[in-house]
Amino acid sequence: MHIQFQTCHSIKTLPLTWNIPESINHRPHRHLLPPPKSTVTTTLPPLKTSKTHSMPPEKLEIFKSLENWASESVLPLLKPVEQCWQPQSFLPDPSLPFDEFTDQVKVLRDRTKDLPDEYFVVLVGDMVTEDALPTYQSMINGLDGVGDEIGASPSPWAVWTRAWTAEENRHGDLLRTYLYLSGRVDMEMIEKTVQYLIGAGMDPGTENNPYLGFVYTSFQERATFVSHGNTARLAKEGGDPVLARICGTIAADEKRHENAYSKIVEKLLEVDPTGAMLAIGDMMEKKITMPAHLMYDGQDPKLFEHFAAVAQRTGVYTANDYADILEFLIERWRLEKLEGLTGEGKRAQDFVCGLAPRIRRLQERADARARKMKPHGVKFSWIFNNEVVL
Ligand SMILES: [Fe+2]
Ligand SMILES: [Fe+2]
Repeated sequence: MHIQFQTCHSIKTLPLTWNIPESINHRPHRHLLPPPKSTVTTTLPPLKTSKTHSMPPEKLEIFKSLENWASESVLPLLKPVEQCWQPQSFLPDPSLPFDEFTDQVKVLRDRTKDLPDEYFVVLVGDMVTEDALPTYQSMINGLDGVGDEIGASPSPWAVWTRAWTAEENRHGDLLRTYLYLSGRVDMEMIEKTVQYLIGAGMDPGTENNPYLGFVYTSFQERATFVSHGNTARLAKEGGDPVLARICGTIAADEKRHENAYSKIVEKLLEVDPTGAMLAIGDMMEKKITMPAHLMYDGQDPKLFEHFAAVAQRTGVYTANDYADILEFLIERWRLEKLEGLTGEGKRAQDFVCGLAPRIRRLQERADARARKMKPHGVKFSWIFNNEVVL
């Protein structure tokens, strides 16, 4: 346990990253059961925001008036179910005679046997993040003007959210089954982590405000595109081309979703440039928090930080990726050239457009400090308490 706390010292030096929020290290009271007393800090950081329903009610009209646009421009980015991949196509076929099925499982285990433990830590963290999907659907449905008010609402916003959720649902299912069959991970600890995480929720700071919500999802979908793309590359390098294809296929979904959410923000920038620019500035000031930042396995109160540190070290998701995503979105939304802003809007524009180089500079300094520290090990329950060096 002592070693684990040393680890966090170096992790905390990483600034402004999507998956390393300094303000939300752990809030034991938000887990269903507290971690052991010896590991609990007594000062709990404040929530990211206590604001709710922060969009002025008159702006609800904007989302109503964009319904036709959403039907024509956003819904086509969904894939009809019949054209979608399903997890089963990537997995051993249980309908085969038993011997043939187990042969396929043996082949799978053979492919995964040389992947390092640290790879599994990242893949489990990604899977757990995907599995907390009920939290994300609730978050989106809590956004004013775009939520599914009856559960089967015909509004294009609600149609999108339900179908998006249904597409996303395959990600956790596929990763979970693959991890289960690999035999490399402790499924019970993973399942516990998922249960804790869904119980804990998330604190993205989106204030039931669809402007903030869609900025968050644009950023977050691109971040998952980047990280699944990197786990695909590492699986290939580690000798598992099927897992590489799985992660790559999931990454492609994330890219399509990113495209939809950033299209919505692009539209908001067109119809309400200052409102949308302020929302981007607000979210970037708060820092985009990884959706699974409240993860806990019943053992390690710093589980999220430890997972994020492994993601950073293996290059699956790093502070530089955070800066890259920001730059990508600035370019995609043409924020530097955005006109018609109020003074307040211009200040947000300057802040956002100057942020990426600042993040990179801070990261370089943090990297230099981290290099001076001795490497140390952290045990992860997900891999049977094997130690991963950070
Ligand atoms: Fe996903
Ligand atoms: Fe996603």
